[in-house]
Amino acid sequence: MRDGLGLAGIRVLNNAPIPTWFGVGGPAEVLASPATAAELQQCLRAHPGAKILGDGANLLVADAGVRGLVIDLSDRNRGELSNWREISGASTDHTVIEAGAAVHNFKLINATAELGLSGLENLAGIPATVGGAIAMNAGGKFGSMADVVLEVDCVHRGTGEFRTLAASDCDFGYRHSCFSLGASVIVRARLRLLRHTAEQVKAKYKEVSAYKLSTQPMSASSAGCMFKNPTLVCARAAELGVSITAAAAAAGALRVSAGLLIDRAGCKGLRLGTASVSDQHGNFLTADKQGRADDVHALALEVSRRVAARFGITLEREVVMWGFDSAL
Ligand code: EPU
Repeated sequence: MRDGLGLAGIRVLNNAPIPTWFGVGGPAEVLASPATAAELQQCLRAHPGAKILGDGANLLVADAGVRGLVIDLSDRNRGELSNWREISGASTDHTVIEAGAAVHNFKLINATAELGLSGLENLAGIPATVGGAIAMNAGGKFGSMADVVLEVDCVHRGTGEFRTLAASDCDFGYRHSCFSLGASVIVRARLRLLRHTAEQVKAKYKEVSAYKLSTQPMSASSAGCMFKNPTLVCARAAELGVSITAAAAAAGALRVSAGLLIDRAGCKGLRLGTASVSDQHGNFLTADKQGRADDVHALALEVSRRVAARFGITLEREVVMWGFDSAL
């Protein structure tokens, strides 16, 4: 309990480690774990600029850590925001589930697969909380979070008010939503899933997982893809040997794998201190055990510099970074 911070009654730790999938980086000056939506609202009213921690799966924290308040909405939270339930059972072809921001994606994907509820299996192998997955519209080749979102309950940072946004008001795009800009913080969401059989859903789950395992270094310490796939006009993509689909030809442009560009720029296996570019997928930067976040950051800068020099393409960062001065 720390009355001076406006966090009375909320579980708070000082100088607390920030767990991330990179496994590197420093602590939070203050880490609060709100157990309820009302406590989350209290945190944001007292600290509108607080950082939100989900599963730490797409996050690089500087070695010196971060000043101020970090709000723990990870699955470790164990409050009401770590719960989910089915809220509509009437339809024979679909159902609606409601999940707190802190529910872990893997837990939800497994549980819904067992029930034969389809939609989330397309996100197999993507570590995230429900809040984090919605905020950045996590996804890949098989689908993205926006495909299943019906409505999102959130707290506005400025006013501290609760709001409900329909999916159409969430500004979902490629690895983007209105929540990526951080004006509101996700509390819970309602997701629409289709009723299939458990066998069907698990078969798709296996297919998606197998693809990821065969193309990505799943066991290394990383945050998945470091950069977004840039959009190139078809002629430029064709020069790089990328096949142009009919849809891309009609649109005149397409997203080209940043991993492919990093690979062609000769960066695979590149190492800087304790960080390296994966040999398996160029867009995965990995950190050694006991490694340094500053090395990962420097390596990301070097990779983006080499891609720019080789192709004239500026890569845009996908991974969220806390505590770094220099822009990437
Ligand atoms: N490729 C290379 N070299 C590489 C990496 C890829 O030549 O080092 C080639 C592949 O051979 C393939 C093409 O690039 O022909 C596309 O590769 P991949 O299927 O691995 O997909 P990606 O576009 O590189 C995207 C997402 C991943 C997602 C995969 C699969 C982004 C930035 N990346 O990668 O998402 O898992 O599709 O669905 O959107 C993430 O966002 O963190 C992430 C890992």
